[in-house]
Amino acid sequence: MSIKTLCLGLFCALFVSHIYTPIPDNIAERWKIMALDSVTKTLTFLALGFENMGIMRFEDFISMIIRLDYTEPLSDEYVTVTDTTFANIPVRLYLPKGKTETLRRAVIYMHGGAFCLGSFKLTSIDHLNRWTATKLDAVVVSVDYRLAPQHQYPAQFEDAIAAVTFFLQDKILTKYGVDPTRICISGDSSGGTLATAVTQYVENNPKMKHKLKAQALLYPYLQLIDINMPSHRENENGIVLTREMAIKLVSLCFTKDEALPQAVRRNQHMPLGSRDLFKYINWSIILPEKYRKDHVYTEPILGKFNYSFPGLIDNRMSPLLANDSLLQNLPLTYILTCQYDLTRDDGFIYASRLRNVGVQVTHDHIENGFHAALSFMTSPLYLHLSLRIRDMYVSWLDKNL
Ligand SMILES: *[C@@H]1O[C@H](CO)[C@@H](O)[C@H](O)[C@H]1NC(C)=O
Ligand SMILES: *[C@@H]1O[C@H](CO)[C@@H](O)[C@H](O)[C@H]1NC(C)=O
Ligand SMILES: *[C@@H]1O[C@H](CO)[C@@H](O)[C@H](O)[C@H]1NC(C)=O
Repeated sequence: MSIKTLCLGLFCALFVSHIYTPIPDNIAERWKIMALDSVTKTLTFLALGFENMGIMRFEDFISMIIRLDYTEPLSDEYVTVTDTTFANIPVRLYLPKGKTETLRRAVIYMHGGAFCLGSFKLTSIDHLNRWTATKLDAVVVSVDYRLAPQHQYPAQFEDAIAAVTFFLQDKILTKYGVDPTRICISGDSSGGTLATAVTQYVENNPKMKHKLKAQALLYPYLQLIDINMPSHRENENGIVLTREMAIKLVSLCFTKDEALPQAVRRNQHMPLGSRDLFKYINWSIILPEKYRKDHVYTEPILGKFNYSFPGLIDNRMSPLLANDSLLQNLPLTYILTCQYDLTRDDGFIYASRLRNVGVQVTHDHIENGFHAALSFMTSPLYLHLSLRIRDMYVSWLDKNL
């Protein structure tokens, strides 16, 4: 055996051990999910490698791959699809073609991608919004906010709020034939963070004439002040999204300095004086016992991290930090969580805090789901799991919007 073969063998072994994630027993479509997971982990591994070699940044490589999956705005027999701008923010509009006597419902959609990646152009997001527009005969507005690290926090929120405020004007709603009393905002993952933050903003802002009827949050991440919840511990090497990748990407919203992700990894990133905020998310009290299991609560260590990022204590970045008087004004809420997901506990805690202040919440928990499951709705790698999640979300909208 030549030294080359030996090296290659060793490299492959290292590589496989690096990317292999054990797939839980209750996961259906195991082979497909294993394949998807290893493709994602391989790309992550390559991205880290390129970054270490100084070839390109981690997020630039991932974003280059994701761009291969972008679609053009294609109309079909039911919906007219166009790309345009709302207050200079790019949006993709889905307008149903059929004639109607009445005003239509509308959904505003925020895509996920840890604020660094993604677009409304992604095949899966385009599919979901087209499907929503067709099934509900609704107007759908899908928003492309600016991304980190080129545009750091709070650019994402400013864009989301600008696009929503533009759409909620009387003249715009009239132009698209939308019923102002039947508008929902939705989003997946960090798009769910944006949907949550925008809802808190609109509902608590007396200047906004039109309010939202509903919010639909699909495996949203809702806080980054405690990154050591049971769901973070159990899904450290989760399917598709690992704790490491989430921390790396979300940190880029604030800085490219490695000191921040290093502190977040150890759960030591919060400033002195922030202890009072933890009451809003203390999982040892708020999380249902079934999901707390026998995890032992440890308090995050404060004041070890010397830089100051206002975003760390901002409820636009961590909407779970909103107090009860802000939450009680919120509309009808749909929350979908997945068992094998870092962000699972955020969703559980938000559902329970909203219910405590009297907000009507439907919470669907997918026992065999994983983060970003909605990304796999189109061939060749589509999952029944993804279609099931899509259908649960759309049927909730149909009944409640
Ligand atoms: C969280 O709750 C536990 C009780 O389960 C309590 O001992 C702890 O002090 C709380 N931590 C914070 C930071 O509020
Ligand atoms: C943080 O800042 C304080 C005061 O500026 C300094 O004394 C301390 O050594 C710093 N800690 C670290 C870990 O850099
Ligand atoms: C809740 O938060 C808002 C905004 O941060 C603040 O204006 C308000 O005073 C707070 N309410 C209570 C009861 O703490």
